[in-house]
Amino acid sequence: MEADPVTDHRPASELELRARIDPARVPRHIAVIMDGNGRWAQKQGEHRLVGHSNGVRSVRETLVAATEIGVEYLTLYAFSTENWSRPKAEVDALMDLLVSTLVSELEGLNENGVRLHTIGDTDSLPPGCRSALLQAIQRTAKNDRITLTLALSYSARWEILRMVRSIGQDLRDGRLEMHDVGEKLVDERLSTQGMPDPELLIRTSGEQRISNFLLWQVAYAELWFTPVLWPDFRKEHLFQAVLDYQRRERRFGLTSDQLTTA
Ligand code: IPE
Ligand code: IPE
Ligand code: MG
Repeated sequence: MEADPVTDHRPASELELRARIDPARVPRHIAVIMDGNGRWAQKQGEHRLVGHSNGVRSVRETLVAATEIGVEYLTLYAFSTENWSRPKAEVDALMDLLVSTLVSELEGLNENGVRLHTIGDTDSLPPGCRSALLQAIQRTAKNDRITLTLALSYSARWEILRMVRSIGQDLRDGRLEMHDVGEKLVDERLSTQGMPDPELLIRTSGEQRISNFLLWQVAYAELWFTPVLWPDFRKEHLFQAVLDYQRRERRFGLTSDQLTTA
């Protein structure tokens, strides 16, 4: 029997998988929780940091794959608010890796039409990181093929609290009335303002949780979990996820009959 490329996690031909994707139903926005770098390294007796640096190739592959099939927004969870509590040496190494990656990848981002963007409390990043980010954001600002958003020092509760405070202040000071407060206003006050909600959320490494990522925005996202550790994630895995997404019926609370007779 032929292997099922969607449920079977063995390598399948990247081109063959890509050819099966329906270009008319590609998600506009894919979000990824890149997890498993530490375990990947530990499995081969290496330090956790080796896993992080090997994860850079996976970022590149995912970005290229997403661009090839016409995804407009790719949002990667790179560093959570909670990750600040990791050992200082790991946090420092992750920040250094961010800077060196931004520098080494900048040309490639421009060649591929990638516009870089960030969400999260980037003011809390070390100054070297902030300036490397700012520079990369400025130098890719005119690109319009895909928006790559890095979630850095990000947590969904952090941004929800920020949104609640900002709306609260505007209500108190009379800039808003209670009837102005609806889903649209909330969308506008989150850091993902202007982006469509992710239709597909991927998490690697076998963990099946959201870990404080985009809680408001993933309300109706399709979730795709894979045991593949992030440094092993390749283009074909992204294509598998999209194919699986395209097989699903997104009902948004309706019945299946309502969707097929509409
Ligand atoms: C994901 O890999 C990268 C970050 C969270 C920064 P981990 O570092 O969480 O790897 P595991 O989960 O310990 O294997
Ligand atoms: C989530 O991964 C954050 C990122 C991928 C940046 P973690 O490895 O920190 O998540 P938990 O702690 O296992 O939930
Ligand atoms: Mg982890």
